[in-house]
Amino acid sequence: MSKCAVIGGGYVGLATAVTLTHLGHEVTVAEIDPERLETLRAGRSPILEAGLEERIAQGLEEGVLSFVSKSTEAAPEADFVFLCVQTPMGSRGRADLSYLEQAAAEIAPVLAQEAIVVTKSTVPVGSSRVVERVIRREDVKVVSSPEFLQEGSAVHDSLHPTRIVLGCDDQTAVAKVAALLEPLNAPIIVTNSPSAETIKYAANSFLATKISFINAVAAVCEGIGANVDDVMLGIGYDPRIGVEFLRPGPGFGGSCLPKDLGAIKASAEDAGYRFELLDAVEKVNDQQLDRIVNKIARHARPLNGSIVAVWGLTFKARTADLRDSPAIEIARRLRERNAKVVAYDPTVTGPAPELEGIEIVTDPYAATIGASALAILTEWDEFRWLDFEKVESGMKHAAIVDARNLLDPAPLRRLGFEYEGLGR
Ligand code: UGA
Repeated sequence: MSKCAVIGGGYVGLATAVTLTHLGHEVTVAEIDPERLETLRAGRSPILEAGLEERIAQGLEEGVLSFVSKSTEAAPEADFVFLCVQTPMGSRGRADLSYLEQAAAEIAPVLAQEAIVVTKSTVPVGSSRVVERVIRREDVKVVSSPEFLQEGSAVHDSLHPTRIVLGCDDQTAVAKVAALLEPLNAPIIVTNSPSAETIKYAANSFLATKISFINAVAAVCEGIGANVDDVMLGIGYDPRIGVEFLRPGPGFGGSCLPKDLGAIKASAEDAGYRFELLDAVEKVNDQQLDRIVNKIARHARPLNGSIVAVWGLTFKARTADLRDSPAIEIARRLRERNAKVVAYDPTVTGPAPELEGIEIVTDPYAATIGASALAILTEWDEFRWLDFEKVESGMKHAAIVDARNLLDPAPLRRLGFEYEGLGR
């Protein structure tokens, strides 16, 4: 059994912590936010993630998981310290490393002899070397190990990683981290830290590119009477392409893809290369928002002064995360064109700063009363099973814009709805 410290109790930190306790290690998590810390100490999860709360409670009960407020309390006895602090978007698309540098500076004097620091935060190329420089200890090695989990399946993804990337020039340190994580049974890629850091950004940029690609193909399909769902299968069965991440939608959002796209472009620029391919990926993503607003406007007839019902506000289903959500940007653009937006989302119960100007209701049917169009913006499964006869009877004008291609058009049209999806 090893002693581990995790600095930062966000998605990555908590998923890492419960994975390490699952592997039989003792883990102390440092979380700076007092409210979040209190929640964690009470055995509850501050974020909506399947399986997380149970594992936190179990870890506390078995005495193998604990939560403290300071990194200097968590780090001293640890063999491995995982840095899982946030790296938000700073100025001109560059990642803000201040939290990471602060955490490294705090732990440097208290780290045990020969401790290994593992950087899990998403960081630009060269950042692990920055952490090494801040720590400035000959005996302490820094290994860059990016995390690839998706929100909504964070615990599962962390327990069953598709691969483990370890970036470090010190083979002894790499071997120790590899031995710690080896029971996860994932392929391990050993490389230097700039490559490990590039892998993370390149992976997220590629995923974003796939989404913009399929959204552009959906636009073509609409113009020529093709069906994007079939096109997606037809191309996706080619193993060189793959079916994953080819679902058309309102565009990619969340706290990672948009930020990492900006960061890799900034890194490229620093290296003297202009990553124009990613400019186009961002452009398509922005156009997608307008394409959906225009579809809603066509059906609401007119948008000006009408009520638009919105189902789904989070950036994707199975998470309560509203950060950089396409749904919120669409709502903002609808309000700019003088529509009143009434929204329902299963995880949103009260007002939040990003929801200013949107009326939030706690029942999907209530959102549609008197509406001239219903926009489905997040792919919550429960939307499929609602009573659409009831929806139709309450709307001023029965029209659905399904920006996730979630519903079956034929029964809706039989009920009298105008239905429009994406690329079909
Ligand atoms: C993303 C990556 O998928 C993870 O591998 C990575 O670890 C993570 O970022 C991170 O860097 O921390 P996440 O932000 O949780 O994970 O969200 P995704 O599931 O990737 O979805 C991103 C956006 O793309 C969402 O808005 C989603 O609705 C959209 N999307 C996804 C589509 O529009 N179509 C698809 O086929 C897939």
